[in-house]
Amino acid sequence: MSKIDVLLGLQWGDEGKGKVVDVLAPTYDVIVRFQGGPNAGHTLVFDDKKYVLHCLPSGIFQENTVNLIGNGMVLDPVVLAAEIAEVAEGGFSIVDRLKIAQKTHLILPTHRFLDAAYERRKGKQAIGSTLRGIGPAYTDKVSRHGLRVGDILLPDFDERLQALIDRHQQQLEWLDYSEYDLGSAMIEWHEAITQLREIPQVDDSYFLNDQLSKGKRVLAEGAQGTLLDISYGSYPYVTSSHTITGGVCTGLGVPPSAIGDVFGVFKAYCTRVGGGPFPSELFDETGETIQKNGHEFGATTGRERRCGWLDLVALRYACMINGVTKLFMMKGDVLSGFDTLQIATAYNGVNGEVTNSFPYDVSQSTVSPAYQAVTGWQEDVTSAKEWNDLPNTMKDYITLIEDELKLPISIVSVGPDRNQTIKRDTKVE
Ligand code: GDP
Ligand code: IMO
Ligand code: MG
Repeated sequence: MSKIDVLLGLQWGDEGKGKVVDVLAPTYDVIVRFQGGPNAGHTLVFDDKKYVLHCLPSGIFQENTVNLIGNGMVLDPVVLAAEIAEVAEGGFSIVDRLKIAQKTHLILPTHRFLDAAYERRKGKQAIGSTLRGIGPAYTDKVSRHGLRVGDILLPDFDERLQALIDRHQQQLEWLDYSEYDLGSAMIEWHEAITQLREIPQVDDSYFLNDQLSKGKRVLAEGAQGTLLDISYGSYPYVTSSHTITGGVCTGLGVPPSAIGDVFGVFKAYCTRVGGGPFPSELFDETGETIQKNGHEFGATTGRERRCGWLDLVALRYACMINGVTKLFMMKGDVLSGFDTLQIATAYNGVNGEVTNSFPYDVSQSTVSPAYQAVTGWQEDVTSAKEWNDLPNTMKDYITLIEDELKLPISIVSVGPDRNQTIKRDTKVE
């Protein structure tokens, strides 16, 4: 019996999960997404080509890897069809390598319209949603109105679909939202459903537990990040799913005892796209430099990502919630060229108290980070192949994080390409 390893983001998403899943995929038999949907944008770079995956697991480019869309996800068939076409154009086939859980909920065009309508209503309090219909699709799941992938094979699918669309149109009317073209959106959606019928459906719980009992190696790929979790993130500026290790059990039908390693992925600094609190955010030239050097623009929406210093209060909290066993540090190369770097080690509250805990209300008006200054490095590290190729000041930066979090950083990524990855065999007492 093998265990299912988990790889997930520890910050506000876009930590580089896709790149590192692609790096690890050759050592796994099955890669599976357990939550989220096309709000995710996971970037993979190899052989001078770049792919951005929204629904397909990031093992799709490895010939011998089975990829599964798990029940905890919400699936937009139109986005999936486009993605399969793009992957096929690159010479990669999904035949025999992609499966979908029957219990995965479907995103309808009207879920996207509702997303836009709710965001408009929120005005200044808008979440900054990717507008991919994620929130409304999960809302329908929880309120027991949703349609599942397995339903597309039922004889009364069309009636069920129409009933849900009618319901959504009533909601849109109530929200006074009419800027949508349902007719053309549904033509595209029905075409995509026809393609979806060709993809093998499985009961993910039986499939995965069977794989584990046969000793197969399974990796669960998280989307978004811990601070966007519906319960433990910076609510209400979060997504609508459980992005944390706990979400693996409910999103795939595997027991907690089946969880193996938990790989926590973080950037060497912080970014956030969309609204909501971000204690270590930089509003100055330094923030602009990080954004420019890190090409910090959303992989799904192209929006500018807000940038700030590494935040150990948030990271410690994320490691605790997820039971992280190993850390992967991404984008360390982006910090080259700064004389001094700052790391937030605690938060100062408004009444002068200092805390190491991630607070209930984490807005800038309630906390300000206490920073520790560390010496930066000037060297370009993008060609580094092993630990000893890294400048000593960068090694010190990494060791400081390991000491603070009491966890080993076993991968240091120094560029977007598959090959720009340093693996370390390291232990922290
Ligand atoms: P994900 O959503 O967690 O998969 O991350 P995204 O793909 O949205 O964003 C990460 C971005 O950083 C992508 O453009 C990656 O190609 C890029 N990237 C990943 N790792 C590194 C790295 O170590 N250095 C640099 N410079 N870029 C990286
Ligand atoms: P990956 O998997 C970064 C953010 C949105 C918004 C909030 C809610 O690429 O790391 P939603 O569309 O879920 O209603 O948006 O969450 N968000 C992400 N930010 N990376 C992501 O995914 C994200 N998915 C959603 O910007 O603030
Ligand atoms: Mg992303």
